[in-house]
Amino acid sequence: MANEGGKRRAARAAMRYVEPGMIVGVGTGSTVAYFIDALAERRGDIEAAVSSSEQSTRLLKARGIDVIDLNASGELALYVDGADECDPQRCLIKGGGAALTREKIIAAASRQFVCIIDPSKRVDVLGKFPLPVEVIPMARSHVARQLVLLGGQPVWRDGVTTDNGNWILDVHNLRITDPVTLESAINQIVGVVTVGLFAARRADVVLTGEEP
Ligand code: 5RP
Repeated sequence: MANEGGKRRAARAAMRYVEPGMIVGVGTGSTVAYFIDALAERRGDIEAAVSSSEQSTRLLKARGIDVIDLNASGELALYVDGADECDPQRCLIKGGGAALTREKIIAAASRQFVCIIDPSKRVDVLGKFPLPVEVIPMARSHVARQLVLLGGQPVWRDGVTTDNGNWILDVHNLRITDPVTLESAINQIVGVVTVGLFAARRADVVLTGEEP
């Protein structure tokens, strides 16, 4: 079960990686909301943030933190984001908040990816949390059929449109023992924008916010 204390502690611990003058890449979700609160306490110390979602952009701006475009920032030194599951090799399932595509772009453009989770997100094998896949709307059924061939049971996240105007399929019943290969296979399906497996570019550091 998710625990708020663990999320808050992990978010606070990530502040150790924030250095003066940095442009910080910021993920999305309830754990990241705690990180944004902590970042706001040092807003005079950082240059700006690059945001992975409209939701995080609103939170950052409401707390007085400048948000700039990734095209203007160049490569980032630091990206901080949550996850839905994390395996012992620091591979992740992300996208519970439907922000996976922008999250993956910022992770790819960052030298260090610090993942903040509460201890309940740690798993031995990824896949209990349904794997989100962002798809171009007209390709939804085609992609779903291909995902069935890969052994999954895709369910359309009905009513959800991503910040990029796309849809999400949540793939159930996967036991992901080779995340790098599955990430690549799903990325090859025509109509897939992004799969929420972060394995080729996984977290560099995972902070779990255990009780002291
Ligand atoms: C959003 C994400 C989030 O990082 C993930 O869903 C975890 O969220 P939370 O911190 O609320 O548990 O990938 O797309």
